[in-house]
Amino acid sequence: MENKRVMSGIQPTGDIHIGNYLGAIRQWVELTRNHQCFFVIVDYHAITIDYDTTTFQDSILKAAMVNIACGLEPGTCLLFVQSHVPEHMELNWVFASCTMVGRLTNMTQFKEKAQQHETNVNAGLLNYPILQAADILIYKASLVPVGEDQLQHLELARDIARRFNRKFGEIFPEPEACGKSVRVMGLDGENKMSKSLGNHLGVLETPEEIWKKLAPAKTDVQRVRRADPGRPWMCNIYTYHEFFTPEDRRQYCYDQCQEAGIGCVDCKRILHEHLCAALAPIQGRYRELEQHPDTVRDFLNDSARQAREIAQQTMAEVRHKMGLR
Ligand code: AMP
Ligand code: TRP
Repeated sequence: MENKRVMSGIQPTGDIHIGNYLGAIRQWVELTRNHQCFFVIVDYHAITIDYDTTTFQDSILKAAMVNIACGLEPGTCLLFVQSHVPEHMELNWVFASCTMVGRLTNMTQFKEKAQQHETNVNAGLLNYPILQAADILIYKASLVPVGEDQLQHLELARDIARRFNRKFGEIFPEPEACGKSVRVMGLDGENKMSKSLGNHLGVLETPEEIWKKLAPAKTDVQRVRRADPGRPWMCNIYTYHEFFTPEDRRQYCYDQCQEAGIGCVDCKRILHEHLCAALAPIQGRYRELEQHPDTVRDFLNDSARQAREIAQQTMAEVRHKMGLR
């Protein structure tokens, strides 16, 4: 077991998509093999946009079940809900005083979300990356497996750690992204895959639902007719093959596309077969977990209890260094 701690977070939604899976969760499962890992379902981050209070708890539980179904099993890591460890919020406030406002207004995700939710550009949305830094550093984690979209937030977390250490004394490591930072494009081929844009393929979707979305999805724009030779390197669908289709079948698609030997529909059928085969075991485990929600709640609660012990130790150190008693 390596002594560097791993921490990462995910929004509380059951509609976890293959972008989340490939960009984050798949790496998380790998890291559990030889690291102490903390994974958090970020309910306090989620309230920075409008949400349904009546279904919120169900969404949190569903998010936990999908993550467990993907391989984050009890005994391999801690998986817990952010608000169950209130020290995240306490450190968040401390870190707010170590963060320059100009850095926050410059964040790409803030600008995007402010545009998407223009009637609700609240201070929580602006301060979002401060809480994210607190999530990571409350456990003194130094490895953070995230998709490419989160690298800017991570850079800010490093700045916050540096600023705190300089002002008050060394406590925090400077956390870094680990693994390959992937960016999975959505079915529109233009934006990153994201639930809010509706261009996603959900991990829990049935083969029929997936085919309904794949069949009309964009391919190489120059391939208009079946007889036109295609350019797989310009095709969004081909990028998915790179994640799911075994080498020989992928090469077959690559070659045949260029010779117009197969059409886009044939290529999508091959992808569909391998994508659904990859998702089937996850969906099977998810259905089993649905039958035992209490074991999932026990895992979340037990993880939060263990995480909290560490979080309290860090906060005691922080208060001591800062002259707070
Ligand atoms: P979120 O659902 O926004 O909380 O994202 C959870 C994790 O999935 C983060 O590490 C993101 O970087 C990652 N992620 C989300 N969307 C994508 C995407 N389209 N491609 C790669 N990674 C992603
Ligand atoms: N902001 C991340 C996202 O939108 C989620 C997140 C919250 C996170 N806290 C974190 C990721 C801590 C890594 C570490 O995807």
